[in-house]
Amino acid sequence: MKFITTTFATFLILVIIAFAGIHTTFAGNGNSDINVELDSANSNVDLDSAVLESIDLDRNAKSRSFSPQDFRNTVGALEMINKGRSTFRYDTFGDEVFWGDQLRLHEAIAGEANGGVGPGVSPATALAVGLKVDVEVLPRKLLRDLRLGRVDLTDPATTLALLQLNAVVGVRGTFDKSGKALTSVGITCALCHSTVDDSFAPGIGKRLDGWAADDLNVGAIIALSPNVQPLVDLLSFVHPGIDAETVRAVLNSWGPGMFDAGLLMDGKAFQPNGDPAATLIPPAFGLTGVNLHTWTGWGSVTHWNAFVAVLEMHGQGTFIDPRLNDETQFPIAAAAGFAEVRHDPDLVTPKLADLQFYQLSIKAPTPPRSSFDKSAAQRGEVVFNGRANCASCHVPPLFTEPGWNMHSAEEIGIDSFQADRGPDKAYRTAPLKGLWTHTKNGFYHDGRFATLNDVITHYDDHFSLGLSDDEKWDLVQYLRSL
Ligand code: HEC
Ligand code: HEC
Repeated sequence: MKFITTTFATFLILVIIAFAGIHTTFAGNGNSDINVELDSANSNVDLDSAVLESIDLDRNAKSRSFSPQDFRNTVGALEMINKGRSTFRYDTFGDEVFWGDQLRLHEAIAGEANGGVGPGVSPATALAVGLKVDVEVLPRKLLRDLRLGRVDLTDPATTLALLQLNAVVGVRGTFDKSGKALTSVGITCALCHSTVDDSFAPGIGKRLDGWAADDLNVGAIIALSPNVQPLVDLLSFVHPGIDAETVRAVLNSWGPGMFDAGLLMDGKAFQPNGDPAATLIPPAFGLTGVNLHTWTGWGSVTHWNAFVAVLEMHGQGTFIDPRLNDETQFPIAAAAGFAEVRHDPDLVTPKLADLQFYQLSIKAPTPPRSSFDKSAAQRGEVVFNGRANCASCHVPPLFTEPGWNMHSAEEIGIDSFQADRGPDKAYRTAPLKGLWTHTKNGFYHDGRFATLNDVITHYDDHFSLGLSDDEKWDLVQYLRSL
């Protein structure tokens, strides 16, 4: 039944979205409710055209009216994206019990002068370890003072003020009643999977969700914690007698843009060649249509979200994956019972559906025109799909296999160390869209190839492709254009 006209539907959607935007409240850490505003409030998005585009449900339909079911699904999808975005950006899933209560990271951030310990983390230090500031929540007066150089960026008290404004991307502070003393801290997905566009200053700008935090030195940040004993305790399952100093050394070995999601599962800190066992933080955009996720294909987006929220962020939720009972492959996880973790209340499971929906909605960003040579890229596309046979695995336009997207280490000509740490003991064909956004820390799971040319040279050797230097250049330009 097509009884709702386009105009009326548009009006209704606008009303419902405005309503959802104002009333979507959301318990960030159990202590405070934050109001989630639609981005349109910051005049980022022309909501009218976005909505109009989204209600163009079926371009082949004779009229643009739609049935009540179509209508409900469309509005529901927008609401889910909206809620999922809040979860991604702001939700700690109650992980303050770990980062605050146990590691006491907030004390290191505040510093002795503000009731914590040590020198504290000034905004200058925070930016230096790759944390980012969301310019859109900064009050006008603060922006003016920042522009005039009137803000002390060397004072940890300024960091506390930024945390109070919820302006540090991916980090949430909890404050006492006076609003001055930092009593706990938690992290969100945005910490590792967002950056900013530097529109105000380096490290200060509008959020870019889904971009890999390639400046972020997660290991160095965790190593600041006054108490790393919880990590010592877990690692002791496989390294009896390990001490805090060694744990800090491992954390400091990772470097910017890297994190080791397997460390607390198997206790492996280094590759056989002595390099850190950490992997690159991958982008979390352009994931729609991709079957398995993570470098080693642990599961779907939502599997991994539950995994990370509960086992890595230490949020208070439920996670079930019996594969972690394998004592040989995951000695720590098996001993610590990570195969089945439950919390009551469960602060993770109710958010998984919207969170997944949001991530699937994040498109890979288009490269700036000036960032690659267009005619070389066109020639490169022919090589990619033809002679170099790249498209046999990286099938356009997904650039991974539609279907089963896993390969053995031998197939791609590298060692199996990281593959063997995942349940399938294989590597996942990396989807290549938006490669241009993460070129800083190298390519492949551990960044072993410094440049795209190095990646291609590797394939050239491994598959005996006999590519000329011109063909390699063209391939690089094509990869940069995706
Ligand atoms: C401390 C940093 C960190 C945090 C916080 C974090 N991630 Fe990740 N994320 C990673 C790393 C590292 C990987 C790669 C893991 C691997 O392959 O072993 C990853 C992988 C992923 C992937 C797979 C991407 C792909 O290419 O298939 C998704 C999706 C993802 N994370 C989403 C999330 C969500 C949602 C959250 C919040 C619940 C989150 N992450 C929190 C570091 C982080
Ligand atoms: C046999 C399947 C296969 C073929 C053929 C193949 N790749 Fe890959 N590709 C993979 C896998 C698997 C990975 C992930 C490696 C890892 O995680 O370390 C990958 C990773 C990459 C990456 C790194 C992505 C990132 O985010 O770091 C690039 C770039 C790439 N491939 C380009 C190419 C090009 C160009 C060709 C053709 C010359 C090609 N691939 C041929 C399977 C393949």
